[in-house]
Amino acid sequence: MEGPGLGAGGPLLILGLETSCDETAAALVDGGEIVSNVVASQADLHARFGGVVPEVASRRHLELVVPVIREALGERSLDDVDAVAVTQGPGLIGALLVGLSAAKALAWGRGLPLIPVNHLHGHVASLYLEPDPLEPPFLCLLASGGHTLLVDVPNHGAFGVLGTTLDDAAGEAFDKGARLLGLGYPGGAEIDRLAREGDPEAFDFPVARVPGLDFSFSGVKTALLYAVRDLGRDLEARQADLAASYQRAIVQALVRRTREAAERTGAERIAVVGGVAANSELRAALPEAKAPPLALCTDNAAMIASAARYAEAIAPPGYLALDAYASAL
Ligand code: KG4
Ligand code: ZN
Repeated sequence: MEGPGLGAGGPLLILGLETSCDETAAALVDGGEIVSNVVASQADLHARFGGVVPEVASRRHLELVVPVIREALGERSLDDVDAVAVTQGPGLIGALLVGLSAAKALAWGRGLPLIPVNHLHGHVASLYLEPDPLEPPFLCLLASGGHTLLVDVPNHGAFGVLGTTLDDAAGEAFDKGARLLGLGYPGGAEIDRLAREGDPEAFDFPVARVPGLDFSFSGVKTALLYAVRDLGRDLEARQADLAASYQRAIVQALVRRTREAAERTGAERIAVVGGVAANSELRAALPEAKAPPLALCTDNAAMIASAARYAEAIAPPGYLALDAYASAL
């Protein structure tokens, strides 16, 4: 089964919206081709708090959502749009509600169908966009700030969970590690950059091995905390070595589990998506895995419009009662 998507069969112009965390994003996707992909990151706003502050995020989404949609529409108008797609969850409820309400209003005002999208399906669907779409079935590592999952993707419209993190997400481990090292937020890209100047074998940061195909990243974060404490004032001189060793530990844990899952499931193709898929060491350590272009790894609305092509469209007024949901599974 390919899923009930109304757009899978032909070119349709879908306006996608994404506001699940701290990116306000809108995109136009035409039959798998990205027409526009606008992302207004709030990272700077949250940086001084060292992480996303939900209420601050919601308010900023409110300010940004209309200008971002206008920019995504560009020369086109809502008259050209065939359907509106929006992230329904998981994510921060207040943040999601801004996107969902905007999507309902736009769709309702134009009599258009609305397609609610699961954010995780969106990350997987970042692989279905032109010019080099990946065809299911495949095994996918989804690693972001909020989630770390291994999923089995049988077709464009579905995915099954094989393993998940028991505590922190991989991106969260990067962000918390960066904070311990005195780097900025979001921390993944900062650690990635600094790690290039350090020795990945300088420190031994083992990652706990949990049963099955699950992950655990809380221990490695504590190990980094102790190393930072032990170094005291010498921290600055060893910052790059710490970043490189910490990144090595997280990446190795992700790679090992992904390869185990591929072996167990007999998957012939592997992919990696989500913000952490932007990590240069992870991309190099899993050369057999297909990864989206960097701009499609972190949160964006093109991936939401892409998933919408394979999800169920709801005719007006059926979607007016839709609610957002916070948790993933
Ligand atoms: O997919 P995403 O934008 O948002 C969620 O759905 O959570 O992922 C954001 C996460 C952050 O934790 C960020 O630190 C991480 O992705 N990230 C990276 C890199 N770029 C972003 N982690 C490691 N290396 C990177 N280059
Ligand atoms: Zn995401």
